Amino acid sequence: MKKLLSKKSIPHLLAEAHANEHGLKKTLGMWSLIALGVGAIIGAGLFVNTGRAAAEAAGSGVTLSFAVAAIGCAFAGLCYAEFASTIPIAGSAYTYSYATLGEVVAWIIGWSLVMEYALGAATVSIAWSEYLNNLLGGAIPYEWCHSPFEHKLIGNNTIPTNGIMNLPALSILAILTLLLIKGTQESAFINGIMVFIKVAIVLVFIIVGWNYIKPENHTPYLIPESTIGHEGIFKWGWGGVLGGAAIVFFAFIGFDAVSTAAQEAKNPKRDMPIGILGSLIICTILYILFAHVLTGIANWKEFGAGGAGGEASVSYAIKKMAGYEWLGTSVNIAILAGFSSVILVMLMGQTRVFYSMSNDGLIPKLFSDLHPKFKTPYKSNLLLLLMVGGFAAFIPGSVAGNLTSFGTLFAFVIVCAGIIMMRKNFPDLERPFKTPLVPLVPILGILVCLAMIVALDLTTLSVAGVWMLVGLLIYFGYSKHHSKLRKQDQDKL
Ligand code: ALA
Repeated sequence: MKKLLSKKSIPHLLAEAHANEHGLKKTLGMWSLIALGVGAIIGAGLFVNTGRAAAEAAGSGVTLSFAVAAIGCAFAGLCYAEFASTIPIAGSAYTYSYATLGEVVAWIIGWSLVMEYALGAATVSIAWSEYLNNLLGGAIPYEWCHSPFEHKLIGNNTIPTNGIMNLPALSILAILTLLLIKGTQESAFINGIMVFIKVAIVLVFIIVGWNYIKPENHTPYLIPESTIGHEGIFKWGWGGVLGGAAIVFFAFIGFDAVSTAAQEAKNPKRDMPIGILGSLIICTILYILFAHVLTGIANWKEFGAGGAGGEASVSYAIKKMAGYEWLGTSVNIAILAGFSSVILVMLMGQTRVFYSMSNDGLIPKLFSDLHPKFKTPYKSNLLLLLMVGGFAAFIPGSVAGNLTSFGTLFAFVIVCAGIIMMRKNFPDLERPFKTPLVPLVPILGILVCLAMIVALDLTTLSVAGVWMLVGLLIYFGYSKHHSKLRKQDQDKL
């Protein structure tokens, strides 16, 4: 048991990172890190889930749902910031738990981060495919943009058409993988352009749309109890605000991805906290304003599944802004750019977690082999493309979304617990950024995230359980016997 809990020493970890002259290149400055965060954060969660959360749970109070979800993320974000500035090494929550909670917990976290990043990338690539087809007026044949598990009656046909594979989703993953192999700096540059486009469109929507807000759409602000179809505590009033928070939580996933790039940051001690907390603050402000305008232009009821704005809620709202119809196409393009940057950062985050796990011997060495010229983990990128691409091409998008939330929330809980442990076990460590009010902030972080995990549906929890079991089988079958830390410990004996 003691061995399962063997920990990496933090001074040793830091020395390892310094000694690795041939490792990942240090190319990311403060603004690149903030752009990386915003790149991973603003995506399907904002453009798709805002309307859904308003219609299903919170009404115009979806602005408050964003605030609640942001508070939950802020607790975890403050803990991430302390870790990322103190232990600026690729691998994020995985690395932090290796140093504070021991090898087996680190493995479990690494394994659940796969749910967050790999499945997150797959989910958003499927949404990307839907929006591309939307932009092209449905020109892509149904078979080639849906998985074999989906079917639909098309035109006058009496037999439903079956999906074959989601080709656009696979293509965007392949393009972004090639970009990532080419280099982190190049990827950060392209990411910067995509982030600029999506933030610009969000701002234009807020500024132009503000004049079209009808106060009656915001009255009453929360869904009243007697509203038909809104039975259940999380469907109306303040309960609905919480229900809405669980739906829009997806919109915040990704701020932690900044910490996976810690080893590539030029000045991680200063810039990591700025990157993590800065991107979180910027997005929260944009989200609340965006939600206020969206539910002001159209009534929340119109965003329901059967409602006129149930599918592409943002395009629907724009149609109500007389004179600004052209904005519709721009928004579609911006959404595609937005989704691309989310996928890019998620893929990058995943390979950086694999890189650290492989350096520790827990997964095969090829995951940390760097390209001789580009210095990026190209083999890992290609294997990941195989895995995520297979998922995106052949599995429906709805399956992966909630699992992504589970993996993220689970990592948040462990990171919060890790801060309490690190303060206890390494009180004298130099901490460029300190989480305020420890242990209160981490404890609140743990409670909020656990509450959101419990609120997930049973199918998600069961699939996540099976995923963890498979992970443990791999750990005891392979990783435990190849762990470098264990080998070192044995050599010392
Ligand atoms: N936060 C990211 C999105 O909303 C995952 O797409």
